[in-house]
Amino acid sequence: MKKRLFTGIQSSGTLHIGNYFGALKPFAEMAEDYDSMLMIADYHALTSLRDPEAMRTNIINTTKDYLAVGINPSAVTIFKQSDVHEHTELGWIFDCLVTVPFLQQAHAYKDKVAKGLEANAGLFTYPMLMAADILLYDTDIVPVGADQRQHVEYAREAATKFNIAFGGKSDSASGDVFKEPQERIMESIATVPGTDGKKMSKSYGNTIPLFGTKDEIAKAVMGIVTDSTGDRPENVFAIHQLFRDEDDLAKLYQEHIGKYKNLKEALIEDIDTLIAPMREVRDQISDADVRTVLEEGAVRARAQASAKMQDVRAKVGVSL
Ligand code: TRP
Repeated sequence: MKKRLFTGIQSSGTLHIGNYFGALKPFAEMAEDYDSMLMIADYHALTSLRDPEAMRTNIINTTKDYLAVGINPSAVTIFKQSDVHEHTELGWIFDCLVTVPFLQQAHAYKDKVAKGLEANAGLFTYPMLMAADILLYDTDIVPVGADQRQHVEYAREAATKFNIAFGGKSDSASGDVFKEPQERIMESIATVPGTDGKKMSKSYGNTIPLFGTKDEIAKAVMGIVTDSTGDRPENVFAIHQLFRDEDDLAKLYQEHIGKYKNLKEALIEDIDTLIAPMREVRDQISDADVRTVLEEGAVRARAQASAKMQDVRAKVGVSL
């Protein structure tokens, strides 16, 4: 039997190739080796989004993005959090098991407070909703960015706390309701360089769009910052490495030594070769397709979540 992989995504708007190489591509590759679930974290998004139109658009676009990069919804269960009520229900039970000081240690919460922002109670309990997401499905591994490592630790804590409080005899491992998940940190997130050589990030304005038209790709690549000294435009080369193997790339840069424009043109072609098919697939996916995928995913997720919650409710003592 395959192990269970679970991850959640909170949409961050339009994706760039840094997101692709750092998150979507490694996820797509890993997903095949596991019994995988991909959840759109819409109720987590609600901790910072109060715009129903934007919420709907984000849910639809995020689902399209993952389908377009090749996630097969019959192999991977894709669903949205709000469709499976057991998530918020279990989140509440975990809230009742952890202390306020414990949640105050969470980085995401501390960062907001440090910035002087007023955190709502949902943001404060965010890690327990995330613990519920993960633990409902007997998850073995959770692929996430390094910023989410602590949240997976919190999920382990929640599992342990529940198992100790309600799991029956402490000497029988088989009495455990929840399995402890492990994080799998997607390291490459930090290594995709942007058009200015810094890490590619929306907030730096140095991105190359993932589903961009060829013109948009060309515009971004032509804007790559190069210095006039040296034979090799380092920032172009750094991005180019993602698209060609080492020998091929060395040859190309040798042939066009000092010719920055040719090298940029070659990069545009290479990026478009990868992106064009995904862009075309994405354009073919309708909003109705997305709804169907999410509904079917929710049915599958619900079957497991409801079985788990029956056990949980019995252990807690609320089912008679
Ligand atoms: N907090 C995660 C993020 O911001 C999203 C998320 C929600 C998640 N639930 C999850 C990730 C469960 C992994 C597992 O990226």
